[in-house]
Amino acid sequence: MRVSVFGAGYVGLVTAACFADVGNHVVCVDVDSEKITLLNQGIVPMHEPGMENLLVTNLNTGRLQFTTDPAVAVQHGEVLFIAVGTPPDEDGSADLQYVLQVAHVIGQLMTETKCVVNKSTVPVGTATAVKNTILRALNERGLDYPVDVVSNPEFLKEGAAIADFMRPDRIVLGTDSPEAIEVMRELYAPFNRNRDRLIVMSVASAELTKYAANAILATKISFMNEMANLADSVGADIEQVRLGIGSDPRIGFDFLYAGCGYGGSCFPKDVKALRHTFQAFGGEAKILQAVENVNQQQHHRLFDKIKKFYGEDLTGRCFALWGLAFKPNTDDMREAPSRTLLSLLWAAGARVQAYDPKAMSEARRIYGQRADFKLCDSPHAALDKADALIIMTEWKVFRSPDFSAIKNQLKQAVIFDGRNLYDPKRMKARGFRYFGIGRGESLV
Ligand code: UDX
Repeated sequence: MRVSVFGAGYVGLVTAACFADVGNHVVCVDVDSEKITLLNQGIVPMHEPGMENLLVTNLNTGRLQFTTDPAVAVQHGEVLFIAVGTPPDEDGSADLQYVLQVAHVIGQLMTETKCVVNKSTVPVGTATAVKNTILRALNERGLDYPVDVVSNPEFLKEGAAIADFMRPDRIVLGTDSPEAIEVMRELYAPFNRNRDRLIVMSVASAELTKYAANAILATKISFMNEMANLADSVGADIEQVRLGIGSDPRIGFDFLYAGCGYGGSCFPKDVKALRHTFQAFGGEAKILQAVENVNQQQHHRLFDKIKKFYGEDLTGRCFALWGLAFKPNTDDMREAPSRTLLSLLWAAGARVQAYDPKAMSEARRIYGQRADFKLCDSPHAALDKADALIIMTEWKVFRSPDFSAIKNQLKQAVIFDGRNLYDPKRMKARGFRYFGIGRGESLV
């Protein structure tokens, strides 16, 4: 099939490359000419495992092309995907200007009927707005093709996006057009083997499904973080509680990890945007408000422990920080808990020596040169003469470190662990003061 994808960001790029990889001819278009130049050279402008390989392979076969010219994309695709950003507006609602701009351009350039599919995360009602925008632009040209706008939300996780696309749990399609369902069924057939993963529903239901999925995951995390804080007070261990409740299949083990709070480009933004949708319809999202509040507090939780341990003034203190990315296997630092912690540490007068396997250039880009911030080449270099080690991302490489080397390099054997990587009893036996999240240490 001939497919065009508008937007060469994270979602657009993965979508374009995966569709090309199963034999489709894909054109991916973006307004950012620098990005398009890089992609045409086989360079991926972000870190995503497997992406570069997929890109280069499909560029070489000629099945994947990148352009800045929307006319090429509109002309090429039988199916046109919209996968541009929906950043939060000043008030937290999703900003639809990029989605609607693409819709307008499609309407200006279309010369035959097309199946338009929205993959961007958008509030309920957007598919209708996209359809109306296309129809208006067509009308201005005196044209009147039938236009189907399908809602097809993505459920990709950064760091596992290609696997998520290639082997989806479900493929949600919001449409009431039998023709569009047929086209989409054919397009997704290579990813829909063994059992039917296609769930067809109304457009509004598909749009809401995306937000509801992210919101319930964020809710699980905030719930566990709240329990973890109670566990600290009552001397319980949240890891044991996690195992105890997760073994109930109605609850399950996934997304029950307490820690320093969720971050990234999706959960914070989508929870906010969903709250706005409630407000727009005269309601109030009481649970989501609580989820957000707990998460904001959780970003401060480790710092509160640090302050309790050392006192308010951290002048002259130096901390080793392992992990800057909002989660492992990505260089993404958007809304990362490490950012809140860094500002709090700096405001209290501390210096930080940090290491992250992938997010070092991103950290350099965000913070530039600062006297109180040193980016180190290895986890161990970051420890050098630091007062304590702080862990903010659960990268694999941090899971079984050389504890005696850590002890030798730190001024004192103290670890503040925002990801609960180690066993508190063993850490005590190794001679560490070890503070996790909800591991029974009532420091706060
Ligand atoms: C998420 C959704 O998982 C994905 O389906 C959607 O398409 C986009 O948003 P992503 O933001 O890439 O994906 O990361 P995810 O792995 O879901 O983690 C989000 C945040 O939650 C991270 O900060 C992570 O550290 C945190 N988290 C996750 C926890 O604190 N505890 C957990 O148990 C799980």
